[in-house]
Amino acid sequence: MGEVLTVLDIGTTKISVFISKFDNRSFESIFFKSFPSSGIKRGRIVDMESLTSSIKRAIQDTEDILKMKIRRSFVCSSGNEIQGLYSDAAVKIRKKEITEEDINLAIESATAMQIPSDRQAVHILPYEFVVDGIDGIRDPLGMKGLRLEARVYIITASSSHIQNLITCCNKAGIEVEEVVLHGVASAEAVVSEHDKDMGTMVVDIGGGSSRIAVFHDGYLRHLSNYGIGGNHITNDLALGLKIPFKEAERIKTQFGVALPDVNFGSLSFREKDREIEIIGMDKIPVKIPMSVIKEIIYARCEEILDLIKKEISTVSESISVSSLVITGGTSQMRGFIQLAESFLSMPVRIGKPDLGLMTLMAEMGIRDEYVIIDEQLHECLTPQFSSTIGTLIYAIRAGSFQQQNSGIGGIWSRFASWIKEIMRI
Ligand SMILES: Nc1ncnc2c1ncn2[C@@H]1O[C@H](COP(=O)(O)OP(=O)(O)O)[C@@H](O)[C@H]1O
Ligand SMILES: [Mg+2]
Repeated sequence: MGEVLTVLDIGTTKISVFISKFDNRSFESIFFKSFPSSGIKRGRIVDMESLTSSIKRAIQDTEDILKMKIRRSFVCSSGNEIQGLYSDAAVKIRKKEITEEDINLAIESATAMQIPSDRQAVHILPYEFVVDGIDGIRDPLGMKGLRLEARVYIITASSSHIQNLITCCNKAGIEVEEVVLHGVASAEAVVSEHDKDMGTMVVDIGGGSSRIAVFHDGYLRHLSNYGIGGNHITNDLALGLKIPFKEAERIKTQFGVALPDVNFGSLSFREKDREIEIIGMDKIPVKIPMSVIKEIIYARCEEILDLIKKEISTVSESISVSSLVITGGTSQMRGFIQLAESFLSMPVRIGKPDLGLMTLMAEMGIRDEYVIIDEQLHECLTPQFSSTIGTLIYAIRAGSFQQQNSGIGGIWSRFASWIKEIMRI
């Protein structure tokens, strides 16, 4: 029968439910659907009652369709006031060879640091070990030495945000297995092992926020959140054209282009101006030149790209970023990837979650023909759902899948459940 895993991805614009079933030979999607989300603005919970009822509605609908009860779920959330901090600690190796206990102790010592009471550690990611002064070791188990040092990246978020999120899920009848931050999840979904080694920045541009993650030398080494996303573009169009938000959203997704009608660096994007029919506030159709729409969209895209540029230069002090992957709903804006490439002068591609999923399946030894995703559920493999599929990947990697000697996720999975224990402290 295999294990059934439920993911609840709570975004600003939508709550997505993904349920799958797997064992060590096959993976199968059971259910995937998005429901409206409310009570969250710019990644913050602003109305707990309304968030609880939108989770409840999503769960009840899913249970009605599937005719089964959902009790537990991995929950993906943007998090609020995300901060990453580095820490390290060394321990004396007790026997000649490094054991799991030595590694546990080293990681635990590295995490024994003061976290302010209004913050909570959400992810503890060991990224490097040092044995007798030799650094760059990924998994020290079985190595000989006298001194073991663990280096970890700890991601904290506002503890009231995490607690409120858990309360809302509980009130909706769901026990939270683990909270996975949106940035961590979508990053897992859209990169290969090679990208992780090379130094890749992943930006998930959602509705109300953008989440940035950077991989370097195989591990996630930087995470941040910004309260700007595709909804701001829609808002600008609504205000600029004096039309309802809903109509602005239609115009944006149907006709929107991120490139202005000018030469931009090496890009030359000119098309004949045309007029678009828009339904105004008074329900009367008006014609607006496409160039006006493009101008409005471009201004906001430039702001988002400027933010990414600043983030690249900030992290570049310690981590090299050699390519960029953009995912999330807004990455589908026509011309956005080309604009980003030209603006940032580095390789940029769109991130889709099939890459991360297939990478994981290969690691698990599951052959392509045994990865069964119902044709009707294929939308889950588009950029809006990177975080949903990424949470699933994270959950499997983090050891909810108890396959003996599978080696999935290497050291990370071996210590995941134990790390969960220390995070409760
Ligand atoms: N084809 C498209 N062109 C431009 N924007 C799009 C397109 N499809 C979706 N979006 C935008 O993506 C945003 C939602 O992204 P998503 O990743 O689903 O959000 P969240 O994770 O915040 O729930 C919305 O602002 C939506 O308008
Ligand atoms: Mg999302």
